[in-house]
Amino acid sequence: MIYAEILAGGKGTRMGNVPMPKQFLTLGTKPIVIHTLEKFLLNSRFNVIVVVVPMAWVSYMKNLVKEFLDSDERIRVVEGGADRNATLMNGIKAIDNEFGLNDDDVIITHDSVRPFITHRIIEDNIDGVLEYGAVDTVIPAIDTIVEAHDNILTDIPQRSAMYQGQTPQSFNIKKLVTAFASLTDDEKETLTDAAKIMVLKGDGVHIVTGDQSNFKVTTSFDLNMAQALVGKRED
Ligand code: CTP
Repeated sequence: MIYAEILAGGKGTRMGNVPMPKQFLTLGTKPIVIHTLEKFLLNSRFNVIVVVVPMAWVSYMKNLVKEFLDSDERIRVVEGGADRNATLMNGIKAIDNEFGLNDDDVIITHDSVRPFITHRIIEDNIDGVLEYGAVDTVIPAIDTIVEAHDNILTDIPQRSAMYQGQTPQSFNIKKLVTAFASLTDDEKETLTDAAKIMVLKGDGVHIVTGDQSNFKVTTSFDLNMAQALVGKRED
């Protein structure tokens, strides 16, 4: 089976003073998470699409699915976890409980707050994960990336080898679960990136080229930019 998991379990603290987690803020005429879900629903290769939200927002999310997506039967709403990886694993647990896990099951995981994901990126993730078992979506670094510690510049890596991470990150589910289970509690706390778990376990992670438009709505500046883009598209 091919699963999608939309990670919407965060609080959006960097957005500043807003009435609800950023994934539920309105962009144009509908919540950000609905824009994102619509992109995934357009792809018929997904068997099931799990959206994972904070516990207090589960019934709110279910109502959004009813109101905006006509209660699409491929969608499941699941309770998230304390950090991003815990949220990710809760989604997988829900899949395991309902369907069981097979060796060739794959999951395309995506930030709920990247509403401008394209059909091409989704397709490349599905094809890539089916072929390689693990893929990460990245774009080549535009600016020079520098490394610094305690305000002292320690390295300037060669820009041509530098990329910025986006999502989706896509995995063979059983391989990801095995890698995650092998982490110590300390590692679980420090490894905030699911693809890094696979890298540290020595599993090759292939890259899929993302797009600048697939940016993450993190700050109020990003939200303004997203509003402007949606305004243009809905004109
Ligand atoms: N996320 C999640 N579960 C968590 C934390 C984050 O599903 N416990 C999701 C967010 O909802 C978001 C994505 O991971 O879609 C990317 O994370 P980020 O932009 O860091 O979101 P937040 O953690 O909500 O933001 P902040 O760090 O500003 O609080």
